Amino acid sequence: MEQSAIISVRNLTKTFGDFIAVNNISFEVAKGEIFGFLGANGAGKTTAMKMLIGISKPSSGQASVAGFDVSHESEMVKKNIGYMSQKFSLYDDLTIKENITFFGGIYGLSRKQIKEKTALLVQELELEEVINQLVSALPLGWKQKLAFSVALLHEPKIIFLDEPTGGVDPITRRQFWEMIYAQAHKGTTIFVTTHYMDEAEYCDRVSIMVEGKIEALDSPKNLKKHFKVDSMNEVFLKLARNIE
Ligand SMILES: Nc1ncnc2c1ncn2[C@@H]1O[C@H](COP(=O)(O)OP(=O)(O)O)[C@@H](O)[C@H]1O
Ligand SMILES: [Mg+2]
Repeated sequence: MEQSAIISVRNLTKTFGDFIAVNNISFEVAKGEIFGFLGANGAGKTTAMKMLIGISKPSSGQASVAGFDVSHESEMVKKNIGYMSQKFSLYDDLTIKENITFFGGIYGLSRKQIKEKTALLVQELELEEVINQLVSALPLGWKQKLAFSVALLHEPKIIFLDEPTGGVDPITRRQFWEMIYAQAHKGTTIFVTTHYMDEAEYCDRVSIMVEGKIEALDSPKNLKKHFKVDSMNEVFLKLARNIE
């Protein structure tokens, strides 16, 4: 294994009855990398991610995340990672402040730390005027940015983002990616799924999953060179055509 790998996956497989949702995938993610986990709807991205965050047992194969085995040390995996699910993950009927306090508590932060984090987030996300409003009142893009920040409250080594920009307008998507960059710059490893191929361009490396298998894995630059095309969208189309 590469010394700097913070995620290491070997022959990971998940079956539901006869159906193979994740089919023998292997890859490594380096510390501090922005790793894009791409694939169409139903490709198996969420199923793979659930095994990596220690909430779903692999049918076979292994994975280690932040130095811990996902099958046998899932509690330690969870302590070291942040996770933002595909569905919006904050409580709509709590205020922004209450959400931060609640999740800070779950992540084991002290009252003092929660106060400091809240002040920081108010500043960074410009929440002064809305901090005591219900989360349900916020526009979706703002909610997503807040959910991202909340998933980072305990300063995890790795953050797993499952389609964080789904349904969000292009400008907010761009802003969301700026937050991702800033976090990666601080040394946090980013594992992000998306089915927007343009977002692949923002990743250090991407894997492309088709029907449970990883069919390509490299930097966007190398993938475009390999497939002799100008955009990741074309890479994806060419790849899909080759597999048919
Ligand atoms: N708990 C489950 N039981 C049966 N099939 C499942 C389950 N979870 C996911 N699947 C199936 O596995 C495939 C991959 O799903 P998923 O990982 O959610 O894909 P993606 O996140 O890439 O859209 C889909 O065909 C889905 O219906
Ligand atoms: Mg999914």
